[in-house]
Amino acid sequence: MNVLLLGSGGREHALAWKIAQSPLLEKLYIAPGNAGTASVGTNLPISATDFEEVKKAVLQYQISMVVVGPEDPLVKGVHDFFLNDADLKKIPVIGPQKYAATLEGSKEFAKNFMIRHNIPTAKHFTVTAENLQAGFDFLSKQTAPYVLKADGLAAGKGVLILNDFEEAKKELQQMLDGKFGAASKTVVLEECLKGIEMSVFVLTDGEGYVILPEAKDYKRIGEHDTGLNTGGMGAVSPVPFADKALMDRVEKEIIKPTVEGLKKDGIPYCGFIFFGLMNDNGTPKVIEYNVRMGDPETEVVIPRIKSDLLQLFVAAANKTLSNEKIEINPFTATTVMAVSGGYPEAYEKGKTISFDEEFTDSIVFHAGTKLENGEVKTSGGRVLAVTSLGENKNAALQKSYKNIAKIHFDKMYYRRDIGADLDK
Ligand code: AMP
Ligand code: GLY
Repeated sequence: MNVLLLGSGGREHALAWKIAQSPLLEKLYIAPGNAGTASVGTNLPISATDFEEVKKAVLQYQISMVVVGPEDPLVKGVHDFFLNDADLKKIPVIGPQKYAATLEGSKEFAKNFMIRHNIPTAKHFTVTAENLQAGFDFLSKQTAPYVLKADGLAAGKGVLILNDFEEAKKELQQMLDGKFGAASKTVVLEECLKGIEMSVFVLTDGEGYVILPEAKDYKRIGEHDTGLNTGGMGAVSPVPFADKALMDRVEKEIIKPTVEGLKKDGIPYCGFIFFGLMNDNGTPKVIEYNVRMGDPETEVVIPRIKSDLLQLFVAAANKTLSNEKIEINPFTATTVMAVSGGYPEAYEKGKTISFDEEFTDSIVFHAGTKLENGEVKTSGGRVLAVTSLGENKNAALQKSYKNIAKIHFDKMYYRRDIGADLDK
């Protein structure tokens, strides 16, 4: 079968790398892809949100499945576009429809879903310009830090965690005044959860599900979790504290009620669900839902999956996932992200990337790269993710760090402490 994958990041390179290994695959196309995906498939110069161009490509290249990497095309309704088009409606899309994607697209929607289905999460209060005073009252009953979230998608920047009450009040006002545009016309205030974060992923067809390996992401730009939030600077899978007892609770208290809740609410779902969780001493709570895989988590999750991912996608499309088992490699995977100097603030693009030598004991997943006249150049903040597998975390990290040191581009930066907190 021919598959079209939408997206252009490290997540998409990892998905493409895995799909390309499937005996079910004839040809893989990636729109728009990056310099890395070009090595495992054919890149098409099409934006993932230009649905008319996506349609043309699907018909031209006889695509029989579309896999959606990022949230943007999902929240904009790419799956619905397929279902509503006579030529496309039989072509399965891995990724939920627009309404289900609201689980990621609106924090308020996600909160109400969790309350309705008894899924543990932080207490919250929703504020608009109409009930600002009640919002201040909710804040005054919380202890610092104060958690303020733009309801809508704000390019990963819409969450503020503030220590000072007066500052929290001021920021709340500014958010409602449009600090994050339309996304913060509604603000969700939350109780601040304590504990350690982790990411759990399932692939579901709305009936059955398979649980993918869990991962821990490192979001801050600076070592020891300091500085600004980024898309993610590295990841580790498995997560040492995610023992069987915790994962059993995650499945029973969070995964099952979520999949059953979707069904009860009559919301079809075919695709990934990413549970951003807080583990408070063995008690898991949902921080957020995403309707896609995480990045850079995918770069450690996918290499640990032994099963044929495309076969799992076919089962999801046929609603037979409950008959499938997923086989996981017990080794640890680590990834370390090389980013452009200045990221997550302003940074330069177009830097030539060079490698001292070929290496075989890590996989380099491309994130923000592009091919220009045969040369690989930087084209984003997060540039390359160096993933390694090892018998344990330190063995994997040693390979990732040895190999990232062989990669060079002007002003390249990476964190040297990925996974270090997990030794405690
Ligand atoms: P979100 O976009 O909802 O995942 O929030 C971004 C980040 O803010 C999360 O990854 C957490 O680190 C933090 N965060 C969000 N909500 C809470 C909460 N209720 N308690 C503590 N930390 C939170
Ligand atoms: N790494 C977090 C995310 O993909 O949202």
